[in-house]
Amino acid sequence: MSAAIDRNAALGTAEFARGDAGSAAGLRSGLPITQVDFGEFSRDMLSGFRWLHKLHGPIAMIEEGGQRVVFLFSPEFNQQVLSDTERYHARFFTVRGPKNSAQRRCTCGLLAMNGEQHRRNRRVVKEPFGLRAIGTYGDTIVRMTDEMLDSWRPGEERDIAEEMRQYMLRVTSRLLFGLDDPEAAYRLGDMIAQWVTLNQEVGVGALVPNEQFLNLYEELLKLAEVLEAEILGMIRRRRASGDAGADVLSILVRSHDEDGGLSDEELVGQAAVLFGAAHMTTAHSLTWTLLLLAQHPTVMRRLSDEFAADGGLDGGGRPKAVGALPKGEELSMLDRVIKESMRLLPASAYSQRINNEAVRLGPFDLPRGTGIVFTPLVTHHLPEIYSDPEKFQPDRWMTLRPSPYAYHPFGAGPRLCIGGPVATAIIRIALRQILTRYRLSVVPGANIGVHVESTMLVPTTGLPMQIHEMDGQFSASPMTGRIHELVEFDDAPAFSGDDATHAKVEVAAPRRPR
Ligand code: HEM
Repeated sequence: MSAAIDRNAALGTAEFARGDAGSAAGLRSGLPITQVDFGEFSRDMLSGFRWLHKLHGPIAMIEEGGQRVVFLFSPEFNQQVLSDTERYHARFFTVRGPKNSAQRRCTCGLLAMNGEQHRRNRRVVKEPFGLRAIGTYGDTIVRMTDEMLDSWRPGEERDIAEEMRQYMLRVTSRLLFGLDDPEAAYRLGDMIAQWVTLNQEVGVGALVPNEQFLNLYEELLKLAEVLEAEILGMIRRRRASGDAGADVLSILVRSHDEDGGLSDEELVGQAAVLFGAAHMTTAHSLTWTLLLLAQHPTVMRRLSDEFAADGGLDGGGRPKAVGALPKGEELSMLDRVIKESMRLLPASAYSQRINNEAVRLGPFDLPRGTGIVFTPLVTHHLPEIYSDPEKFQPDRWMTLRPSPYAYHPFGAGPRLCIGGPVATAIIRIALRQILTRYRLSVVPGANIGVHVESTMLVPTTGLPMQIHEMDGQFSASPMTGRIHELVEFDDAPAFSGDDATHAKVEVAAPRRPR
């Protein structure tokens, strides 16, 4: 029996379901509730989300020992929750830590704030992400992309997922903190990445606390102290030097000094969370887009032709990559590619809310404090909105106008990502520079794993690619792995090895990350 058939057969007896999902307690009561093992469910959320949607449709609930979490899959439910910030509060996935702890302060970024505090902080934190400010970052991003590309050589194999991670560590550090020293940038970036991962591990462990969880928790609190000291050091150095820098932290520090904007405590939280929100989401978006382009040679050829025709520069000789995204038919091939890649493989896999008062949501009467999850991983693949949803078809964006709650790679409503325009500018510049200088192809037979981790859609097995001179010889490679659960690769030759996992799988049974 092929691996694909095995996995489809396992749909009704997924590892995280308690007993047979079809006869779960909720279904007997007529409500779309499924009893699960929370620990198992959170280990394979990619399968879990899709499995719940297949079982229940636009809204579903999971339950274990009286604890309940609701999942929204349709644009209508997304809108009901995401547009109402009074009733539905943000629920940041991190562990908050004890009052007055560094952990508590490091997690006090926009993602964790609500009400008036959120509105005030958002007004200030948004400033350095306006289109005018982004315009000043363009040349720096171009230079940093060139630095990365100068170290690549035709004939080499590289893990492009790791390259993008390192690249975004440098770019994020530079834009947020103005760091010129790459070693210091890596150190701080790695520290924040480690902190984000630890938060996730402790968050999952908190459901079933044991000794290992307690050790991790201690480790997290200590790491937060070191992180806070590093960030406070940066803030103080800026004040001491009367820094007039254009990086985000400098702008935020100045706004504090001039307008009584944010306190140092708020600055620490904003800086840590901004870095965490920016660097891996953008790195994964770049990785997924480079994979999709390499495996769709026809699209890649058209993109390459567009680059050749427009030279990539505007009338003033500056990179043509910053500024607002035009709409519909005015979208360039590059912008259609980016939109479609973020639809198919959204780097931010899910976010959460918590209801601040008792509410009626679809068929559920929810007591105050119920967790509510929404995920573009399902909404972006709804066939009633996106025909052939698993196919990479950038041209669909010439005519398609989904509501902001049906296409939400950057979230939607009053908590829409403030870094969306800067992330898009980085991705435009990086793709243009990488793909005018080199041709990239997936290493034949590569296994491309994908997994939901720390709320992101992560390439678990890296992205091994070969670097070539830009010779225009675009062609897809045979490859295996879970990526085939989310994307149908029309142009890719079949993998002829023993592993049958390249076969398209509609809804996979949950598996541990590889
Ligand atoms: C491709 C890259 C990115 C993706 C996919 C992404 C995705 C998202 C999503 C989905 C949200 C909404 C979360 C929610 O509603 O709970 C969000 C919020 C946010 N993002 Fe991004 N983001 C990206 C890049 C960035 C960058 C570059 C920055 C900053 C430098 C940033 C900073 C933020 C902040 C501060 C929020 C919270 C906004 C609020 O709650 O008011 N993001 N992002």
